[in-house]
Amino acid sequence: MQPATLPHHVAIVMDGNGRWATQRFLPRIAGHKKGVDALRTCVRYCGERGVRVLTVFAFSSENWNRPAEEVSGLMDLLVLAIAREIPPLVAEGVRIHFVGDRSVLGERLQASLAQAEAQTAHNDRLVFNICFNYGGRWDIAQAAARLAARGEPITEASLHAATALAHVGDPDLLIRTGGEMRLSNFVLWQSAYTELYFSERLWPDFDVAAMDAALAEYARRERRFGRVSDQDAERATPSRLAVAVQAVPEPPRQKFA
Ligand code: FPP
Repeated sequence: MQPATLPHHVAIVMDGNGRWATQRFLPRIAGHKKGVDALRTCVRYCGERGVRVLTVFAFSSENWNRPAEEVSGLMDLLVLAIAREIPPLVAEGVRIHFVGDRSVLGERLQASLAQAEAQTAHNDRLVFNICFNYGGRWDIAQAAARLAARGEPITEASLHAATALAHVGDPDLLIRTGGEMRLSNFVLWQSAYTELYFSERLWPDFDVAAMDAALAEYARRERRFGRVSDQDAERATPSRLAVAVQAVPEPPRQKFA
């Protein structure tokens, strides 16, 4: 694949863990555990293919409404995953950022997130943003609140700079697995011109071949960012336009005395 057609930043809504487990008569947390395996494969894939930023939705502001057992299971899974996965991620040049509201998380979890960030801070092969207790609306509101507290004017540029993902460019490609076709409060500010890709596959089954298919589809997209396509721009070059205008017969002029 040509570097020009490779997305620099890929964002993923990893949906379908619960259904994956239910289909196998397993508790939902078993699906999330399998989801961590799929995520490990995905991080490695991105690093190897030359994707520079990967942003995943691991726990949304709304996920607190799930059964208490599933919420605490996800918290435990995060602590466990950090402890187990950091050494290989360091070796692979991955830099981790946790993105979201940490203030409500337990002290042990907060310390673990800070430690993972510190341990990977010198890596630059792949930036890996894990959105945890994150919501797109939360991000826009916290950015606006920060500017207001500093008495700064709210412009597109200042708001953008105050968002929790300001350290990376906007996602080029957003993948959502699990068959639903919505953003569910993920990267709302940052997805204005992001290419969207929806897959029926459940996240634990989203393997290397599925990632290949998503990137191949991205390579076929024409990104216009509100402009006309290159082909149309070519057709409408000034010289051709001038020729076209000259070719239109002028209406008969009225004679005035
Ligand atoms: C959505 O599937 C998935 C989540 C809410 C959690 C995603 C978490 C992981 C993939 C594991 C990695 C996370 C950590 C903590 C490192 P769902 O449960 O909504 O699935 P369903 O739509 O089939 O019910």
